[in-house]
Parts: sequence; structure tokens; C-alpha cells
Amino acid sequence: MPVDRALFFRLMGSFASGVTVITSRGEDGLPRGFTASAFCSLSLDPPLCIVCVDLRTESLPAIRSTRAFVVNILASDQQEISQRFAAKASDKFADLAYREGPATGSPVFEGVVAWVECRVRDILEGGDHVVVVGEIQAGDALDGDPLLYFRGEYRAFA
Ligand SMILES: Cc1cc2nc3c(=O)[nH]c(=O)nc-3n(C[C@H](O)[C@H](O)[C@H](O)COP(=O)(O)O)c2cc1C
Repeated sequence: MPVDRALFFRLMGSFASGVTVITSRGEDGLPRGFTASAFCSLSLDPPLCIVCVDLRTESLPAIRSTRAFVVNILASDQQEISQRFAAKASDKFADLAYREGPATGSPVFEGVVAWVECRVRDILEGGDHVVVVGEIQAGDALDGDPLLYFRGEYRAFA
């Protein structure tokens, strides 16, 4: 059975996930970010996680050059932020409350459920995406419910 685009999205979209915004800084010092659900734990010792990044994502050059990023795990009231960072725009950070991560300076959003600050350990080829392996430097898990995503729709805990 050939796996066409529609079936691929239906299959992958059936795996319910949280929603993150991956942030970094470009060589120009400006913040960059994009919405990503393809985030996963990889290893405890050493502490590693992975993010799958589309080769066309404008944030990828920033991640490649600064070799650092933060995974901002969004809260249930941050759907607007997810939508904003899933679009192509030059002013995604306008009016957004964030600070610099302690290890790399990559942006850490206010109000997230958790944030995970990483240095890039490896970037592996994966078809039209790359798998970015991050070595976890710092982070925090906070109160609040996560924003969820399933079959193309945002969800929240009942
Ligand atoms: C819920 C959701 C999850 C997404 N997950 C990913 C992902 O895991 N990896 C990815 O490269 N793009 C993902 N995207 C698409 C990017 O957010 C989108 O291509 C964005 O415009 C990239 O921004 P940039 O090119 O300005 O960096 C997702 C979009 C949505 C709405």
C-alpha cells in the first residue's frame, strides 16, 4: 500500500503529542523560533533529547550556526503562541515575554509548562528533515497543564 501524503499525515497525526516552540538566536543575535511537535527524550546518561526539523525551516541555520536551542513546552493557554510560531513571519517575538536561557542565551518563554535548554551534539539526515540531537544543559518543569495536538487539532486535558 503506497503511503501518500494524506495517509502519512493521518498516521503520524494519530500520535497525540505536546506542542513546543524551539527557540534559538541567529548569528545576527536576533531570536528565532518555530512550533514543533516532533520532540522526544533520547538518553538519560548523558541527558539527550531530539527534535526533528524541516530543512526549509528558517530557524535551522540559526541552530546550525549557534549550535544551541531551547525547547519551550507550551501550556494549554498558549495556543496563540503555537499558531504564531507555526507561520512564516519576521516579528514572531513581538510583545512576547521571554528571557535568555542561562547556558546558551536562547529564548525561554514565560508561562510554559517546562523548558529544556540544549547544546547541539549532532545533526543527522532524515529525508526532508534533520534530527537535531541536543545535550541538555538546563531546564525547569513548572505548574500548569500542557497544550496538546491530535489529528490536526489543538486539545487540552478534560
Ligand atoms: C502543531 C504543529 C507542529 C509542528 N511540528 C513541527 C516539527 O516537529 N518540525 C518542524 O520542522 N516543523 C513543525 N511544524 C511546522 C513549523 O512550525 C512551520 O514550518 C514554521 O513555519 C517554521 O518556521 P520558520 O521557518 O520561521 O522557522 C509544526 C507546526 C504545527 C502547527
